[in-house]
Amino acid sequence: MTQDELKRLVGQAAADYVLSNVADGAVIGVGTGSTANCFIDALAPHKRRYRGAVSSSVATTARLEQHGIKVFDLNEIESLPVYVDGADEIDPTGAMIKGGGGALTREKIVASVAEIFVCIADASKRVPVLGGFPLPVEVVPMARTAIGRRLTAVGGVPVLRVTNDGAPYITDNGNEILDVKNLRIDDPRAFEVAVNAWPGVVTVGLFASRGADFCLLGTESGVETIDYGAHR
Ligand code: A5P
Repeated sequence: MTQDELKRLVGQAAADYVLSNVADGAVIGVGTGSTANCFIDALAPHKRRYRGAVSSSVATTARLEQHGIKVFDLNEIESLPVYVDGADEIDPTGAMIKGGGGALTREKIVASVAEIFVCIADASKRVPVLGGFPLPVEVVPMARTAIGRRLTAVGGVPVLRVTNDGAPYITDNGNEILDVKNLRIDDPRAFEVAVNAWPGVVTVGLFASRGADFCLLGTESGVETIDYGAHR
């Protein structure tokens, strides 16, 4: 199977999970990226069962609305039974690197409210140790260089994310992103706490303190369910 076919497989598996486990009338938390898009497309035919969704990005809002799914502001919602999103890497404890699509801050906010985080990913995202994928760090633009120095001091190689025309990539929140190469993140929780504490960091794309509860992983032999309950 191609990577796209695996993404569609897990998108459908996540929709099946929601349809079997989430009560009618609920609001669903929805992530960002190509795998999350497959989930949106698989859930769309059943949209009348649910009140709507809370979105993690401008792009996801557009896709939900194209399907006629109502998008709620998180401030209007008291609880979210589930959040479904992809990952750039996921380790054996359910800790993830996210933000390859630039939506890490809103993803982390929506995930923090949800009762269950379902990660959907193709098998290439499963890694023994996080850090092979450059770690996105969203920063307030005036802090870009100061944060870059700190990241270099811990062994990273920060690179400012740019668009195709060479301009700084700007997030939905008006900030910039440093993609940090050359990291081996042996203790994701500790590193997440440390980097989050640096003034000027908006969000580090480590999802460890609030990692996935389980992962629907697309493999050549089908969808594997990996439960991280013991690590939470
Ligand atoms: C978006 O900012 C990211 O966190 C995505 O969830 C992550 O990059 C996975 O994206 P794909 O599903 O497109 O690989």
